[in-house]
Amino acid sequence: MRIGIDFGTSYSAAGAVIDGQLELVRFGDAQQFRTTAYFPQALPDASRFELTPALEAEVDALVRASRAEQARVAARARERAEASAGPAIPFVARSEAQLRRDALLLVRRHWLEAEMTRARQSVAELQNAVYGDAAIEAYLAEGDGHLVVSPKSMLGYKLHGAARDVLVGIALHILEHIRVTASEQFGVPVREAVLGRPVEFRSSMGAAGGEQAIELLTEAARGAGFDRVTFLEEPAAAAFGYHRELRSTQRTLVVDIGGGTTDIAAADVGGEADAPRVHGAWGIAQGGTDVDLALSMRRFMPLFGKDHTRTPVHHYYEAAAVHDLQRQQAFRARVGFGDVPSPFGERLITLQEPGNTVRLQRDVEDAKIALSTQPQHEALLDYIEPGLRAACVGEDLTRGADAYLRAFSALLVDVRSRLDRLPDTVFLTGGMSRGPYIRRVVADVFPEAEAVHGNASLGVVSGLAAAAGGGDR
Ligand SMILES: Nc1ncnc2c1ncn2[C@@H]1O[C@H](COP(=O)(O)OP(=O)(O)OP(=O)(O)O)[C@@H](O)[C@H]1O
Ligand SMILES: [Mg+2]
Repeated sequence: MRIGIDFGTSYSAAGAVIDGQLELVRFGDAQQFRTTAYFPQALPDASRFELTPALEAEVDALVRASRAEQARVAARARERAEASAGPAIPFVARSEAQLRRDALLLVRRHWLEAEMTRARQSVAELQNAVYGDAAIEAYLAEGDGHLVVSPKSMLGYKLHGAARDVLVGIALHILEHIRVTASEQFGVPVREAVLGRPVEFRSSMGAAGGEQAIELLTEAARGAGFDRVTFLEEPAAAAFGYHRELRSTQRTLVVDIGGGTTDIAAADVGGEADAPRVHGAWGIAQGGTDVDLALSMRRFMPLFGKDHTRTPVHHYYEAAAVHDLQRQQAFRARVGFGDVPSPFGERLITLQEPGNTVRLQRDVEDAKIALSTQPQHEALLDYIEPGLRAACVGEDLTRGADAYLRAFSALLVDVRSRLDRLPDTVFLTGGMSRGPYIRRVVADVFPEAEAVHGNASLGVVSGLAAAAGGGDR
């Protein structure tokens, strides 16, 4: 049996068409789950280094050995000088503090190497992972281990060392979770899938990043027990879903704005044809998480001293970018926030504690969503400091979203100039399409088209399910 899978940056979902009816896979009570995974074991994180009594003893032993070695070299240099037996050996004694610092660095390096070995072994233990909102809850409750938020947004990035295997492992287990859940629900083994893909993956390597992402997803799907996978562009998939709902034919422009990417397709939908005719697809690798980041930098990070202290701004980016493992590690490992003036230094140090950047990111996203329907919103950041509040108004969001909205508008203008025929409708889907500011930009660029609001969460998965067709039970 074949199913459609929307492996989204923020949420994942799956479904099939059974006896002509669309059936979505249920994950507990929900039709989608957050694309987030929690691993009880910690991956190596240099900031976790602690000088335990055992390591302290190692440092002392190394200092003693270096001191003895230094004394031997000094004695030899003195003997040679006294005996005038050849050229004098220049000898500069290292201070006790220097010897200790060197020893500490060595012990720390050995510790990190051991941690790396442990992490490599833990790749094989990914099945202990927890997914979805439960992942975030488990991480916050245990305050240990590792949380991977939005693995899809990393598929197109340069991956070093064990990172590639870890990422494939995460995608594999998410896809396996979907396959097993679907097989149980439909009562037959699910062995094939149509996977959604953005037109442009988020990438640090241009087009090569997109190719890598497809390669990693294919590998993960195979490992998850799918014998065959095909890919369909997400906006083309949404066109499939819309097509099934329409009796008469129309030209539509699908606009799918998710957490990581913005995707557009022009298609003829509706009528008797089995499938829509897709005329073109375009996209940019920006979406809701970019708006979250901008809102965080504008309204939340100033509470931690951004714009009020000399703390370099990249530390605030590191703290806000919860989907970027390396940036998060860099933020947590940073020492020296104690020098930042009060109360910002204390707040930054609290923000470094496990789970707090994720809590903050949730509050930022909630603020963005709340500001879609109300003029103001207040987030209570009690976990940072009792009574600390971030007050946001609509203008913070529109200004924060400004860079994204300009890129989105430019994309729409470019697409409009490429169309041989203007669309009758613009079909909006993806979580971000709920934002009124998004609808305004669409209406500005396509004033003559009627806006159709599809199911923002399930437009793409419905289309993928329709495209997958279900096959034989
Ligand atoms: N009411 C709302 N107003 C603004 N944004 C919203 C609203 N509801 C959800 N979002 C945002 O929509 C995004 C998630 O949308 P969606 O579930 O379509 O993404 P995805 O499919 O996981 O990502 P992608 O398609 O980019 O891989 C998140 O950034 C979320 O904050
Ligand atoms: Mg999506």
